[in-house]
Amino acid sequence: MPKNIKIFEVGPRDGLQNTPFNVSIENRVKLIDTLSDTGIKKIECGSFVSEKWVPQMAGTDQLMRRIKRKSGVNYTALTPNITGFDKAIDANCDEVAIFASASETFSRKNINCSIVESIERFVPLIKKAKEIGVAVRGYVSCVIECPYEGSIDSGEVSKLVKRLIELGCYEVSLGDTIGKGTPKSVKSLLLDLCRDIDPSKLAGHFHDTNNNAIENVREAISHGLAVFDSAIGGLGGCPFAPGAKGNLSTRDLIEGIGPENFCSNLNVEKLDEAEKLIMSFD
Ligand code: HMG
Ligand code: MG
Repeated sequence: MPKNIKIFEVGPRDGLQNTPFNVSIENRVKLIDTLSDTGIKKIECGSFVSEKWVPQMAGTDQLMRRIKRKSGVNYTALTPNITGFDKAIDANCDEVAIFASASETFSRKNINCSIVESIERFVPLIKKAKEIGVAVRGYVSCVIECPYEGSIDSGEVSKLVKRLIELGCYEVSLGDTIGKGTPKSVKSLLLDLCRDIDPSKLAGHFHDTNNNAIENVREAISHGLAVFDSAIGGLGGCPFAPGAKGNLSTRDLIEGIGPENFCSNLNVEKLDEAEKLIMSFD
């Protein structure tokens, strides 16, 4: 097992974007502040998207101004377009993430445009990010299956991942949005992708619908991937992907891979605290 695994904590964003109630800004801040002490170095704090589309993420700008920033931790957010990017920069995000989909139908349901149009929106965003020195991460959703279209061709995933890297994303996270991946389908996808994409440019984002996420992570590690997205308490889902259950839980990721195999020292007591905190949200 390589000792270089990194966690990208998406709980405050992917975890809280799909709750049946809106978690208060105060509680979102408390969660991020607690996660800041776990030893995890990247925390996705929220999204700069339309409040009409995802009311749970409203106020991410206020939240970013209220969190206690810990040195060495990067605080990131989702930005679908230049409007969102400008707001994220105003709110002092350390880096941003753009998100595309390998499924045409999911792209329209999620961000109200085609895959090609989404790339057109990302071009000025990445240009501006480069000018001001802000790192941009990419997501590709539905890398294995789409809730509307079924199986997705790995050739389409590969084309999109390469395009995002070519535009300037430092890393692209592969979203198994509805958690249909198995070690076999992840292997087949990664054999295709890693033929001409450096695995150090890829991350895994496995929703844990069928309890395969940790096995999928192990499979991905064997192809050279070292960054995995997870959510505290296994929270998560996407409002536009029926059937999308929670993300791989951060605890399951750490225990499943072994704490000694991560780049940073992880504080399990702080993790417990963060898990207790989310249980108190209403
Ligand atoms: P649109 O309606 O096509 O955009 O939405 P528009 O440009 O026509 O604008 C419509 C309204 O939205 C306007 O306001 C804009 O000002 C406003 P109005 O005039 O109606 O009052 N607007 C914005 N407001 C705030 N922030 C912005 C922004 N842009 C426009 N950035 C848009 C396009 C992308 C904004 C919309 O479709 C949207 O917000 N979608 C939500 C997408 C989302 O958050 N999805 C969940 C996250 S993705 C995910 O979970 C998958 C992932 O986890 C990986 C995986 O699991 O696969 C990443
Ligand atoms: Mg997700």
